[in-house]
Amino acid sequence: MTGPVAILLAAGHGKRMRSTKAKVLHEVCGRPMISYVVEAARGAGAKKIVVVVGAGADQVKTALEGEPDVVFAYQEQQLGTGDAVRACRAVLDGYSGPAFVLVGDEPLIRPEPLADLLDRQKVEHAACLLGTAIVPDPSGFGRILRDSAGRFLRIIEQRDCNPEEAAINEVNPSCYVFELPGLWDALERLDTGNAQGEYYLTDAPALLQSMRRKVLALPVLEPDDILGVNTRQHLAQAHALMQSRILDRLMTEGVSIVDPRNTYVDGRSEIGPDTVIFPFSVISGHVKVGRACRIGPFAHLRDGTVLEDGVEIGAFVETVRSRMEIGARARHLAYLGDARVGAGANISAGAITANFDGRTKGVTTIGDRALVGAGSILVAPVTVGEGATVGAGAVVTKRHDVEPGATVVGVPARPLGEKSR
Ligand code: UD1
Ligand code: MG
Repeated sequence: MTGPVAILLAAGHGKRMRSTKAKVLHEVCGRPMISYVVEAARGAGAKKIVVVVGAGADQVKTALEGEPDVVFAYQEQQLGTGDAVRACRAVLDGYSGPAFVLVGDEPLIRPEPLADLLDRQKVEHAACLLGTAIVPDPSGFGRILRDSAGRFLRIIEQRDCNPEEAAINEVNPSCYVFELPGLWDALERLDTGNAQGEYYLTDAPALLQSMRRKVLALPVLEPDDILGVNTRQHLAQAHALMQSRILDRLMTEGVSIVDPRNTYVDGRSEIGPDTVIFPFSVISGHVKVGRACRIGPFAHLRDGTVLEDGVEIGAFVETVRSRMEIGARARHLAYLGDARVGAGANISAGAITANFDGRTKGVTTIGDRALVGAGSILVAPVTVGEGATVGAGAVVTKRHDVEPGATVVGVPARPLGEKSR
């Protein structure tokens, strides 16, 4: 096996979430927390990612099913973070080289500081490089103890701290690079002589040091990187931080966001420069938006939406699995599902595609420059030809395609001038 590898700990119960869902699957900006950690590890160079599962194992496996570089190790009983890493031994049998060890409940971890740690490891050949952070409020974290010369001594868990140690503001964010197979020796020696009666991974660095192996603690992480989610309150904080990162990136790329505090965009979307997003808009899933589009206020662009350049999506318009070609517009109160809307077409207020008949979803195709009138319903599958007009309030029924250039009106819709049936 070629490395580096990563071990992500995700077997804990997450009791404080009070949830039937595994903690690492709670969503931050539309995606499970663990998927951000997987991405960070991969982004830092991990070639294989071992996720330790236990509580809610099946849910976690299902959520990560599509990730080609992820494998799973099973921790039967949650005996502590040290035991969780030990559960990976069989999966990583025969591997020697660096291994990240990270936790699945810190979704804000970025690939850059992890890559820095790995670079340092290439130079230092240490048994353990510990990424640390200096934070204004260390509560909840293990503290980093150093000697008077600043050399790393050990990590002490908060519960095991005396008041002086508790005041230390350099903390352990559970972000390590260990050299394998050396780590396995240290894990053999862990004991449960601590406040929680668990096998603490945090004892491994000091143990390695006592085995005369090199251990360094490097403050490479920022306070925001290490927000750990243990409660719903933390989840909301993680969401806010992640959202501002995503919006900040988009603004740097040339997207105007009128009110970043009231705009929700998940990280999987791509948005072109000179597009303006008005408040209370939600963009979720894989969404592509071209240049110079206008979105919102109150727009909802869902997974599979593609907007070409110059598209306008206004208030209370929802789109899903739909493409709008250059300059197409849906300015007010519309639903477009499984639709293709041709260039320059206009979807008027209150028009919708009826894309679901209770069993299957059907496709609606709207030609270039077509005009779909106010309050009309297009029952899929159906095509409205190029330059055609659907009158206000018309119901275009399934497979009763509208010819290019034609005008249809009424319920059910028929060409203008034709007597009703
Ligand atoms: C751990 C660290 C602490 C650090 C903090 C934040 C230990 C002993 N302490 O504490 O120094 O400051 O994270 O990074 O490591 N897990 C398992 N199996 C287990 C126990 C835990 O997979 O048996 C997983 C959990 O799912 C979680 C992660 O390990 O993703 C961390 O466990 P958690 O209980 O949250 O540890 P903390 O108390 O936060
Ligand atoms: Mg934690």
